[in-house]
Amino acid sequence: MSITLAFDVYGTLIDTQGVVAGLERLIGDRAASFSQAWRDKQLEYSFRRGLMQSYEDFGVCTSQALDYTCLYQRVALTEGQKADLLASYGSLPAFGDVAEGLGRLQDAGYELYAFSNGTRAAVDSVLKTAGISSFLRGMVSCDDLRTFKPNPDVYRYFLQETNSSADKTWLVSSNPFDVIGAVSAGLCAAW
Ligand code: LAC
Repeated sequence: MSITLAFDVYGTLIDTQGVVAGLERLIGDRAASFSQAWRDKQLEYSFRRGLMQSYEDFGVCTSQALDYTCLYQRVALTEGQKADLLASYGSLPAFGDVAEGLGRLQDAGYELYAFSNGTRAAVDSVLKTAGISSFLRGMVSCDDLRTFKPNPDVYRYFLQETNSSADKTWLVSSNPFDVIGAVSAGLCAAW
């Protein structure tokens, strides 16, 4: 039986700091810290919504986190500027080594999947725009369960959807909470 690799999307395959260039045009040298705060709050909202069982999709977490970050950092953006930033989230780039790395793993016979909090539509679009969807056999979205990582249910759902067994499945993620969630659900994981 071949090995299945589940790749986290945002922050692992896709560079969420890709919004920095657009932000620099709006807020100059505050862009990098704003972008990091926005990303941190997006994840915090997903954790809170998961715990509270108050589900709204990951795009809503992203949008509400942008509102929060603007208020907290006293950055006055128009609704149009916010809409543009959110739209740019749909065309974030892959990290520079991703295409080559996925290609080599695909050639070596691994079964590669994307596995994300993002909705199917959002993840499908960002992977296509970044030019890496052809390396992947498919994608599993936590949105199907209306909850988020690191709820152990989502990792078990990944195994079910890809017909994989936990001892032959590795999660690859830059997000420590994701790795811990996968391991607690019985998968192997690499950070
Ligand atoms: C994802 C988030 C955790 O892609 O970045 O699932």
